[in-house]
Amino acid sequence: MYNKTLTVAALALALGISNANAELVTQPLPKPNMIGGKTLMQSLQERRTAREFGRRAVNDQTLADMLWAAVGVNRQDGKRTIPTARDSQDLFVYVLKNDGVWLYDAKVHKLIQVSDKDLRASLATQEFAKDAALDLVYVSTNENSMYGAMHAGSAYQNVGLYCADKGLNNVVRGYFDKDALAKELNLNDKQQVIITQAIGWPKE
Ligand SMILES: Cc1cc2nc3c(=O)[nH]c(=O)nc-3n(C[C@H](O)[C@H](O)[C@H](O)COP(=O)(O)O)c2cc1C
Repeated sequence: MYNKTLTVAALALALGISNANAELVTQPLPKPNMIGGKTLMQSLQERRTAREFGRRAVNDQTLADMLWAAVGVNRQDGKRTIPTARDSQDLFVYVLKNDGVWLYDAKVHKLIQVSDKDLRASLATQEFAKDAALDLVYVSTNENSMYGAMHAGSAYQNVGLYCADKGLNNVVRGYFDKDALAKELNLNDKQQVIITQAIGWPKE
């Protein structure tokens, strides 16, 4: 379990994404927008898989909101929008987008750049997937892979409900080469890719 007081740099180091000689590139995210939206019951009514994406970009506010929905800190004591076994908080969300790969650091609500490569094509094992504005990759460091999978399921459902609220399309995706992706993300043997989620606005 990672120490909850880890700084951004230490988190990056622990996750094997830091280069001792290079400055970490981080991107602050806008605060999650808590105003407006559908009711929870309406979002549940509209939650669905939609395998079609338009060209509209996902802006920083939308990205910030969906990452916060996934695993964000929602209380003063640092706990999250998803429950985790023994409060392990060991589910990590990577974002694959056109300007590279980013790790969401929930504690400071920032992105840490992992790579400047656009890796979305490596997940396009189904034709529609190549059009997604971004892919979320859920990575667990829990030793119990069942717990890791449960944590990821909680997070992708939160994101699915967020997408339903905003009218974004999304597909949870297990059909991709996990080992190849883990290699591309430079993961170590304690970090397990659980599942991905392709997201984007519908076609206009
Ligand atoms: C763990 C999991 C893995 C999935 N993998 C894929 C996938 O690789 N490709 C895909 O097109 N849909 C995938 N789906 C989406 C399901 O096909 C979809 O949820 C199901 O058909 C029910 O549709 P609904 O989400 O609209 O209720 C996956 C869903 C889950 C929960």
